[in-house]
Amino acid sequence: MIVLGIETSCDETAAAVVDGRRVLSDVIHSQVQLHAEYGGVVPELAARDHLTNIAPVVSQALRLSGHTLSSIDAVAVTCRPGLTGALLIGTQVAHALAWSANKPLLGVDHLVGHLLAPFLDFPSLPVQSGPEFPFIGLVASGGHTALYRVDGPEVALIMELGATRDDAAGEAYDKVAKLLGLGYPGGPIVDRLAQQGDPTQIPFKKAMLGADSLEFSFSGLKTQLARWVQSHGLPGDDATLRNLCASFQRCVVDTLLDKSIAAAQAQGLDTVVLCGGVSANSELRRRGQEYCSAQGINLVAPHLRACTDNAAMIAYAGSFSAERGLDERGQLAISPRSSLPRLTKKGGGPRTQLPGG
Ligand code: KG4
Ligand code: ZN
Repeated sequence: MIVLGIETSCDETAAAVVDGRRVLSDVIHSQVQLHAEYGGVVPELAARDHLTNIAPVVSQALRLSGHTLSSIDAVAVTCRPGLTGALLIGTQVAHALAWSANKPLLGVDHLVGHLLAPFLDFPSLPVQSGPEFPFIGLVASGGHTALYRVDGPEVALIMELGATRDDAAGEAYDKVAKLLGLGYPGGPIVDRLAQQGDPTQIPFKKAMLGADSLEFSFSGLKTQLARWVQSHGLPGDDATLRNLCASFQRCVVDTLLDKSIAAAQAQGLDTVVLCGGVSANSELRRRGQEYCSAQGINLVAPHLRACTDNAAMIAYAGSFSAERGLDERGQLAISPRSSLPRLTKKGGGPRTQLPGG
């Protein structure tokens, strides 16, 4: 099944062609430079930049894969959640391509794409066999942080167990980096500084929200750091800056790992999958392996290039709907939705419908 995937939910214009798990091409135009001076994504600028770049990005993805529109089997596109204007560009282009080539069109939930990213097989990277279902999936990105029970590769088989009540983990990184004047996106910068810092120097408190809670809250941690800066001033030397980043990061990583392990234990599962932009974090990946193996849990993370937004994960997620013969070309359900109704209420059975579908 050869699928062309398109992703424009936030600040990456991406297109990819996959053949099952095999990634034939994976093109990403990042808007990071465009948004850097604002310290975060400006939705109107994002939509305009997607419009400028989507056609060349799709053409390049097709060319590099050795395919044409007529030789692919389906078009898959992220249709939720994300910035409305940004999603509109991807979904409209995908509609047009699918209609013109008479190919099925599949709407993909961005978070399902992230959850399936560890299955992707990139040409120049070591083959990853991918986790076995069922597993616990932690999506930690700039827009979302949530835990899921994943029984299969489709939305109906994915159940949300807990999500953040306020900031997403990546959002906390980005806001803290902005506060410290470090640049955007904050995650990789704070991660790099934290690697040389001492995480025990500043005693930030984790927000666990109750012994059994699988929900997250990161805004309190961000406020603790802001208060520290209010009373001590911005770090005047490199060592203090590194210690501050390391102490913040230790709190985020411990919270993500504690709750992922608690979710696995509560569901009686032995595999945890990390995904989303924050899963690129060096400490989360390293300490995650140590923590999880001490608890008898297998930790799986995508290749670094598949942690942040990409279209290969969208194409791969779409291939399951394509196999079932789904075609949403004529349906308004493919219209973009900025927010995501929760993937099944806590305690409910797996959802049997696409959100909003
Ligand atoms: O999944 P993603 O590319 O976009 C969304 O769906 O939001 O995630 C982007 C987020 C940003 O907040 C970025 O700061 C964070 O992932 N991120 C990291 C790292 N690399 C990216 N956070 C912590 N450590 C990293 N190494
Ligand atoms: Zn994402």
